[in-house]
Amino acid sequence: MWLEASGTMDLAVAVTVGFLLLARGSVGDEAREAAAVRELVARLLGPGPAADFSISVERALAAESGLDTYSLSGGGATPVRVRGSTGVAASAGLHRYLRDFCGCQVAWSGSQLHLPRPLPALPQELTEATPNRYRYYQNVCTHSYSFVWWDWARWEREIDWMALNGINLALAWSGQEAIWQRVYLTLGLTQSEVDEHFTGPAFLAWERMGNLHTWDGPLSHSWHLKQIYLQHRILDRMRSFGMIPVLPAFAGHVPKAIIRVFPQVNVTQLGSWGHFNCSYSCSLLLAPGDPIFPLIGSLFLWELTKEFGTDHIYGADTFNEMQPPSSEPSYLAAATSAVYEAMIAVDPDAVWLLQGWLFQHQPQFWGPAQVKAVLGSVPHGRLLVLDLFAESQPVYIRTASFYGQPFIWCMLHNFGGNHGLFGALETVNQGPHAARLFPNSTMVGTGIAPEGIGQNEVVYALMAELGWRKDPVPDLMAWVSSFATRRYGISQQDAEAAWRLLLRSVYNCSWETCSGHNRSPLVKRPSLQMNTTVWYNRSDIFEAWKLLLTAAPNLTASPAFRYDLLDVTRQAVQELFSLYYEEARTAYLNKDLVTLLRVGGLLAYKLLPALDEVLASNSHFLLGSWLDQARAVAVSEAEAQFYEQNSRYQLTLWGPEGNILDYANKQLAGLVADYYQPRWDLFLETLAHSLAKGVPFQQHQFDKDVFLLEQAFVVSRKRYPSQPQGDTVDLAKRIFLKYYPKRVAGSL
Ligand SMILES: *[C@@H]1O[C@H](CO)[C@@H](O)[C@H](O)[C@H]1NC(C)=O
Ligand SMILES: *[C@@H]1O[C@H](CO)[C@@H](O)[C@H](O)[C@H]1NC(C)=O
Ligand SMILES: *[C@@H]1O[C@H](CO)[C@@H](O)[C@H](O)[C@H]1NC(C)=O
Ligand SMILES: *[C@@H]1O[C@H](CO)[C@@H](O)[C@H](O)[C@H]1NC(C)=O
Ligand SMILES: *[C@@H]1O[C@H](CO)[C@@H](O)[C@H](O)[C@H]1NC(C)=O
Ligand SMILES: *[C@@H]1O[C@H](CO)[C@@H](O)[C@H](O)[C@H]1NC(C)=O
Ligand SMILES: *[C@@H]1O[C@H](CO)[C@@H](O)[C@H](O)[C@H]1NC(C)=O
Repeated sequence: MWLEASGTMDLAVAVTVGFLLLARGSVGDEAREAAAVRELVARLLGPGPAADFSISVERALAAESGLDTYSLSGGGATPVRVRGSTGVAASAGLHRYLRDFCGCQVAWSGSQLHLPRPLPALPQELTEATPNRYRYYQNVCTHSYSFVWWDWARWEREIDWMALNGINLALAWSGQEAIWQRVYLTLGLTQSEVDEHFTGPAFLAWERMGNLHTWDGPLSHSWHLKQIYLQHRILDRMRSFGMIPVLPAFAGHVPKAIIRVFPQVNVTQLGSWGHFNCSYSCSLLLAPGDPIFPLIGSLFLWELTKEFGTDHIYGADTFNEMQPPSSEPSYLAAATSAVYEAMIAVDPDAVWLLQGWLFQHQPQFWGPAQVKAVLGSVPHGRLLVLDLFAESQPVYIRTASFYGQPFIWCMLHNFGGNHGLFGALETVNQGPHAARLFPNSTMVGTGIAPEGIGQNEVVYALMAELGWRKDPVPDLMAWVSSFATRRYGISQQDAEAAWRLLLRSVYNCSWETCSGHNRSPLVKRPSLQMNTTVWYNRSDIFEAWKLLLTAAPNLTASPAFRYDLLDVTRQAVQELFSLYYEEARTAYLNKDLVTLLRVGGLLAYKLLPALDEVLASNSHFLLGSWLDQARAVAVSEAEAQFYEQNSRYQLTLWGPEGNILDYANKQLAGLVADYYQPRWDLFLETLAHSLAKGVPFQQHQFDKDVFLLEQAFVVSRKRYPSQPQGDTVDLAKRIFLKYYPKRVAGSL
């Protein structure tokens, strides 16, 4: 497909892109992948319904195009026949059948899998091929924001989700620190030097990219053992579907203690990152010409592949959000070559997967000469670039399609795993298609690369579907209505109307004015300068809320509906919060103490507790579950406390001094009550005090005072429920009846 679009694909690119597929041709693999898909069907639908599906994997299906293909037939009186060129393709075919013929939905927030009986028959055989070689999933950061505390049961569900969505390329980065520890000890570092280097589990993503070290570490022996075990299971399962797991490789960052062991070593200290001081950032980067470079790089890859095997694609990010020490193209080329050379020394078939985030994050630094230096120093087809934030700032356009290197069009969408309804569905819908048509396009795939998952599922459903479509979805309004129907298992017109309002508002951002960060005042440290502007019409949210409540009596049995009603209620409260905040601020500036006390009291003592209470009614919105997940990884109480603190830091201060304050904000029951609310209480009390006593409000003093509250939350050992309490529909309705007529209807 993209061959036609570009017409000039480099032969080397074609060979690399094709070789992994060809390498997996054997009959044994076909049987193994088919068996993996049959097991997935049984997990998803139960053993009874699974008997109504006949699954096979046949490489020959893709013989013509070389692209993953599935074929569906049968149903009715006969079993549904699902054939795929790989296990992933068969899983995607199964998902297509469930979605488009059975009206089902597989979702993070609760799948809807009521199968019609008998199973609908296919009118004729339906064969579909993907337009591109790869469907990629994950961001290095997803491992910290979402996966960090996962056990195998949770991973298993995610890998099933990946297979069903046709993902065939994904990071498998667990357990790498255990391998690094072996390498560092072999090189002569002491255990305490190794311990000093690693961050805590919740911050490993940034240690892996050389942004951070040491912060909230170290890693325990049991952590390493568990991660190695997990990684083996993850790899086995991914490979059983015919997915390609991407392993990590050495990017050039080394622990400080390298200098003690190799006093002659040539290293450069990089700048600080994320407002961390050099006790935690300013990583050391090994000079590309240093003889230690290939030694460390090869030793790591050798140890890693000895433990885990390999599928020949490796991820490494040397300059992610890090200014290189020199902008000289010759330096950048040498730094890039060094990484690649160390890879191919161990695996001559190595392909390097690079997150292209750096190019769009520091566009002033990465001019054409600098980008060319990096992309040009790896043979064509041996560098696979993720255009990571392509729905917003596509890099392929200004680099003539990455100067001939293959790339994957990725949707990033989410930052920090924030809650907050948000999406650019129109842009996402058009993006991959436009990239394929770009002159001399080297696009070889689509990708889903959020920092955190478990929010805004509609956006991910669309992007996953685009991985199997040659053209954009023709009518998003119709698409979102059927999304709602499948999601709840019933066609309900008010619910569908609610979704259409969400589509035209929160899910139709156009990037000049919106962001995947939730910047609501509710989840930010209070000040008088908070920006309450949003890119959509707030009334659309309030109306969607009303429509969902109208639909509620018919949909209460649907877990996804209850989740959505809660999520939209949460969003509506966030909107109300902004409106009341503006009123309180105006009252303060007008020196109107009476109004300040009234509105402030409502904000802090009514609205926030009501939000906490409704969040507590769904297991996806509980701080208790979040923290218990972290504690469950531990083998002792001390370790449990340590993991819990890692988790609390990530949600709030992020660093010891609030270095990246509230970046990973979430709206969770418990977090609202004990973190967001106390600081709003303090803020409003301080403002009232200021008016009453006639002393000016000092932000800088307030920041000091509020920091103590934030810190207290992080070190607190208070336990929170991990089971939901209360009825979402009742609680949502109560908030609606209290605020909608007064605040919303009056102002419409
Ligand atoms: C970095 O900050 C931490 C506290 O956040 C402090 O303990 C440490 O001394 C600082 N290090 C440097 C090099 O300033
Ligand atoms: C150290 O590495 C830098 C960057 O590659 C290089 O410019 C410099 O000449 C090297 N220094 C020595 C002493 O080799
Ligand atoms: C596409 O590639 C061909 C062959 O390399 C070249 O002649 C042509 O100018 C390119 N087109 C664009 C729009 O870059
Ligand atoms: C989204 O916004 C664009 C303009 O920014 C508009 O053309 C388009 O129709 C909107 N889409 C929907 C579904 O509302
Ligand atoms: C507030 O945010 C909006 C949207 O992000 C932006 O356009 C506007 O410039 C901001 N206003 C101020 C005063 O910063
Ligand atoms: C905002 O949304 C409301 C409710 O959906 C609608 O009545 C109103 O016309 C919209 N306002 C604008 C400016 O589009
Ligand atoms: C709820 O379902 C009943 C019967 O299925 C139907 O008659 C009624 O109109 C539905 N109510 C709403 C609000 O859709």
